[in-house]
Amino acid sequence: MTGTSHLVRSAGEIVPITDRKSHSEYVPTTGLSQAAAASALDTDQLAFPLEMARRFGPIVQLWPGVIQVTGADVVDSVLRRTNRDFFVDRNFLFRKIDYGSKASQVKLDAWMKLRRTAMSAMTPARFGQHAPWLIDQANILVDSWLRRGSIAGILPEVAQLTGASITRFTLGDRHARDVRAATDAMLDALRHLSLGRFEWPGYIRAVQPREWRARRTLNDFMEAVHASLKTRDRNGLIDVMSQPESNEAAAELVKSLLLNGQEAPAAAVCWALVELARNPEEQERAASAASRWDGSLAVPKEIGRVVDETLRLWPPAPLSGRVTGESVSLGSWMLPAGSTILLPFNVIHRTAERFPEPDRFDSTRWTLLSPPHGSYVPFGGGARSCLGARFARFEVATILAAVLRQSRVTLNGSVRPNPGRILTPVGFDLRLRPRR
Ligand code: HEM
Repeated sequence: MTGTSHLVRSAGEIVPITDRKSHSEYVPTTGLSQAAAASALDTDQLAFPLEMARRFGPIVQLWPGVIQVTGADVVDSVLRRTNRDFFVDRNFLFRKIDYGSKASQVKLDAWMKLRRTAMSAMTPARFGQHAPWLIDQANILVDSWLRRGSIAGILPEVAQLTGASITRFTLGDRHARDVRAATDAMLDALRHLSLGRFEWPGYIRAVQPREWRARRTLNDFMEAVHASLKTRDRNGLIDVMSQPESNEAAAELVKSLLLNGQEAPAAAVCWALVELARNPEEQERAASAASRWDGSLAVPKEIGRVVDETLRLWPPAPLSGRVTGESVSLGSWMLPAGSTILLPFNVIHRTAERFPEPDRFDSTRWTLLSPPHGSYVPFGGGARSCLGARFARFEVATILAAVLRQSRVTLNGSVRPNPGRILTPVGFDLRLRPRR
């Protein structure tokens, strides 16, 4: 390689790239301590990483061992090389994973097989069977909102609907009241766990009460899932899958679907309603499309674009990550073995050159837009992308259409993003008036 390219080593200092071996030295670094950077990230999950991306560029070491990646090319590369060079570490219970080991490979292979089977069972026909129930339930929720006129916290109510929806879609009509309660308890435990998740090393976290609580709650949750799987049904996703052949595998899949499938779609619905209330023209356009929609799987494009734009501006799962097994190259950088890679989707969606006025909600930008790989990734990407992406898009659009068909929405209060594992809007009442 020649000495013609340059990298910014730290704020303002330009250094030439001379040879590949030395690149690892030149991953720009914020120079912040772990405590300072982690607390800045926990305090403001958007402003801090956005500022770091704008100052340091597409890749920056936030603190030793933790590297933020936001450039479209490099994001795409991390996602595509997942399971080969970059691994998913969603192990919220502080167990150490050895990515090179045979045991971890066996576990990963089993999950990938399960994923493939689940995805091939998530057919449009199954969504179609679920749709009438979802539309009914969404209408019941909107009727109750219209009776009240003003709703202080819409999120928990929408989450009840999306929670019931994913439970029914996964487990069919089995008795699932215990599973619903156990899912809510588990999500609550996770919420506390993920607050300040970068504060302490694993060996300290292990003795914290919230970790113990999460473990106990996980055991109760899995017990409820197993009990439910013992009862027979024919209508759940789990019943139509050619596999899993073992109860353990079935329970693992149910766990992943229920824990991932409730809060993110609920947050997406709430953010979409917030933006439609703030942008009356957008609302009228979407409402007119909703009034023509028969609830079929072909979601009107106007509503599809509202969903796309909502997920761009307010991706409900704003932060995903990977870890490197061995040391790996990424673009022109070398990343050390065992690095944590942070992918802040909310930042990626606001730094991409393809989104002019990135902070503005404008669903019409999607009329002609086809974003380059790695610049729009609300569902992640590659081998470990969101399993429920298609289901989620359909569910969110269906609930939005139910609201817009019957009502006009406005806001009272000032909306602010609530940081956490799931990005939610708080601080407002939603007001509904019947649409005639
Ligand atoms: C708008 C709603 C949703 C959003 C924005 C969302 C987003 C995401 C994201 C960003 C990831 C991580 C992807 C990565 O790191 O590459 C993920 C993983 C996952 N999601 Fe979703 N999700 C949504 C709804 C759902 C639903 C409804 C389900 C269940 C049907 C679901 C099931 C999963 C599962 C099982 C994983 C883990 C996949 C794996 O590790 O292999 N998600 N989701």
